[in-house]
Amino acid sequence: MLSYEEAQQHLEAVGQAHVLQFWSELSDEERQSFLQELSQLDLKGLKNHCEGAQRAAECPPESLDQHIEPVPPGSIGSVRKSDGKSLEEWENEGLLQISKSRVGVLLLAGGQGTRLGVQYPKGMYDVGLPSRKTLYQIQAERIQRVQQLAERRHGPECSIPWYIMTSEFTLAPTEKFFKENNYFGLKPSDVLMFEQRMIPAVSFDGKVILQGKGKIAMAPDGNGGLYQALVDNAVLEDMKKRGLEYLHVYCVDNILVKMADPVFIGFCVSRGADCGAKVVEKASPVEPVGVVCRVQGVTQVVEYSEIQPETAQLRGPGGELVFSAGNICNHFFTRAFLQDVAEKFKDQLKQHVALKKVPFVDSCGNQVKPTKPNGIKMEKFVFDVFPFSRNFVAFEVVREDEFSPLKNADGAPTDSPTTARNSLLNQHCRWAVAAGATLLDEHGKAVPPSSSVSVGDAPPAQCEISPLVSYFGEGLDQLLKERTLKTPFILDEKRASELQAQ
Ligand code: UD1
Repeated sequence: MLSYEEAQQHLEAVGQAHVLQFWSELSDEERQSFLQELSQLDLKGLKNHCEGAQRAAECPPESLDQHIEPVPPGSIGSVRKSDGKSLEEWENEGLLQISKSRVGVLLLAGGQGTRLGVQYPKGMYDVGLPSRKTLYQIQAERIQRVQQLAERRHGPECSIPWYIMTSEFTLAPTEKFFKENNYFGLKPSDVLMFEQRMIPAVSFDGKVILQGKGKIAMAPDGNGGLYQALVDNAVLEDMKKRGLEYLHVYCVDNILVKMADPVFIGFCVSRGADCGAKVVEKASPVEPVGVVCRVQGVTQVVEYSEIQPETAQLRGPGGELVFSAGNICNHFFTRAFLQDVAEKFKDQLKQHVALKKVPFVDSCGNQVKPTKPNGIKMEKFVFDVFPFSRNFVAFEVVREDEFSPLKNADGAPTDSPTTARNSLLNQHCRWAVAAGATLLDEHGKAVPPSSSVSVGDAPPAQCEISPLVSYFGEGLDQLLKERTLKTPFILDEKRASELQAQ
């Protein structure tokens, strides 16, 4: 650990002496923890970081809009446009790879969830399903079920390790939550949490922002911090040791996420891809999703915060959006590709600039909560490795089946706890009806089979199916065919075995 004198010397040398301005007011304990924080900081890189942030905020990089082109539709795989046979083949290939324990999943869970406004990790959020399951529990159960499906189809016992990237904000509560819940039935040795790096927020005049008298305002380095974190935490070595060849990387907030989706894995593997992304058709020009597109012939994602509104609004002859391949933050990588990124490309990743309101202490020591942006946060994005891929594929999936993210607090018209809950319950009503069940709503009225509603709308009935019973609607006909079911109806494992016995 650095001594006070060493810290002072380093900070002075990089023009950041103000960081220690309240030293005399700190208690012994506060001094210790501050020195510890400073010791972990890359003090040598601090000058570049602060100058780079200041420069980037002063003259933002040129927008890519003039150079972007849509990805030709023919080069995007698609669930809707593929025949049943191809889908089956991909699924089978995916399940085969899973059964050989070659597939892992990696959750990006280091974000702060500012828009949702909760103080705990988003994965712990309960959107108010009848079962009161949290996002983490739903995900854990999907892993178990798809593992089971692979074993049933192809034989030997297999495992899908679950890597979880956290940050200083989310690691401890996530660990505690998993322990308290016995890892939701997964083997603890198959759940591997690690931390991404944090970097300081910088003021517009290039100074590190003090969040407290003895605390720097730090933020995670963006979900593209993944690639550095893989190296810092020897994750690729762990993958190699376990014999994993493929990784499905996804973000925490999509209640419909298909963990280790066999169809997607099978599609990517059979195309020989080293890198892939799932997309959905954008719901509207202003939907906050990045778009998969080409920039000077190279496929990449342009983030929603970086595309000009005029470009996002462009429409083709049939009225369709020109840039419609919405990124849902579900990525496929081979281990070999990740190894390449770790060795050759991770330091070339673009830095994105975000101007944020960062609470700080002013020079008189007053705590200030700014009302307009005062700080620069530099972030890396997980998809910025796409241009390094040798064979990138995009795969379009059906929104109603696979994408309903939780971004905002209730009250917002989209991407809220209510819309996420509704999307899941709607999906489960569709599954039950497709399996031949008649659902009775709370008034005892049969739900018409065609009562399909759009994502996020209130479901026709409260029907929830545990992922431990069905991963994607499979296996329900033998349980539900020709049954009339009163709702609210929860199909968990116990109910499933009762139904089977009847
Ligand atoms: C993200 C995508 C966007 C996509 C949208 C779909 C990125 C950069 N953007 O946007 O293109 O259309 O999801 O829902 O991927 N995270 C970390 N560490 C961080 C920051 C974030 O692990 O430092 C994690 C979050 O916990 C979350 C995921 O990354 O699981 C996505 O982050 P979030 O800030 O929610 O991304 P969006 O802006 O919604």
